[in-house]
Amino acid sequence: MAEVIAAGSAMEAALALLSAGEVVAVPTETVYGLAGDATSGEAVARIFEAKGRPRFNPLIAHVGSLAMAEELAIFDPLSRRLAEKFWPGPLTLVLPLKPGSAIHPLVTAGLDTVALRMPRGFAAGLIARLGRPLAAPSANRSGRISATTAAAVAEDLGERIPLVVDDGPTPVGVESTIVKVEDGRPRLLRPGGVAAAEIEAVAGMALARSGAAAGIEAPGMMTSHYAPGAAVRLNAVETFADEALLAFGPQRARGAEQALAIRNLSERGDLREAAANLFFHLKELDRLGAAMIAVEPVPDTGLGEAINDRLARAAAPRDADDDNE
Ligand code: TXA
Ligand code: MG
Repeated sequence: MAEVIAAGSAMEAALALLSAGEVVAVPTETVYGLAGDATSGEAVARIFEAKGRPRFNPLIAHVGSLAMAEELAIFDPLSRRLAEKFWPGPLTLVLPLKPGSAIHPLVTAGLDTVALRMPRGFAAGLIARLGRPLAAPSANRSGRISATTAAAVAEDLGERIPLVVDDGPTPVGVESTIVKVEDGRPRLLRPGGVAAAEIEAVAGMALARSGAAAGIEAPGMMTSHYAPGAAVRLNAVETFADEALLAFGPQRARGAEQALAIRNLSERGDLREAAANLFFHLKELDRLGAAMIAVEPVPDTGLGEAINDRLARAAAPRDADDDNE
């Protein structure tokens, strides 16, 4: 069973495990990550093993500095500008691998690109001390909701990993935004913790959207990725008996008094607060055993785009073959 150690006293234990090719669950500002040395095939294989991923999908490599990133990948001018503006923070950039890059091919699933991001929090200090990039998918079993607390990690992966570093609930609560610049034009591969409009403001142009190509570009983002046990019904303006209700804002859906339980993503309708609460509240409602979780409408602006993306995945029909994350 994993040891759970508070972030303030976990650094040496985490370093020792990572140096030995082991995996460690660590907090980032978005969600908890299941981290391993991104230059070690053995460590990366352990990540896939612990998550129970049916296939090897490309992972994000986390760096401690722009200098470390530039040793691993080739930056075009726009990608560099985005990195300078948003790093450290919840933005992942997909970049061409640099020849001789230390990233192990298992991280990129053999692609000639690598997804890089510079996290905040405990993970950042850990990478600086280790001096090597960390591969880290979200610290949940394949097909489950991403973990935003150490307790959720321990519940999901505790029997499979040696250490969970606990730094409380993650402040952003949804995964990073993934962007790829192609011929000078930025493309949004996954909405996330940086709102699309913020990126567009820095880029000075609109983000291309992935559309049907999304599944190919970011194979880990297939439909049922965020599936809770309960079925999920979106844009609920009415609640039926025996449903659990995931609410948003000050006004309740009709019939809310019949709900088995209600969790509000943000009483005051704040999308940042809603993102931070999303996975935690979904998990809590799921735990009650309701057959259906009804979700009130969430506006699609700002971080609402990432929230609605995750909710749509949670509501998507379940297909074990799709469930490649
Ligand atoms: O906030 C986050 O991004 C969290 C924390 C732990 O950093 N990590 C995370 O990792 O969400 P994961 O493995 O759950 O999602 C990684 C996503 C997947 O959708 C994967 O397909 C995509 O990144 N990805 C990785 N490498 C890629 C590449 N070379 N090209 C396109 N997509 C890539
Ligand atoms: Mg994930």
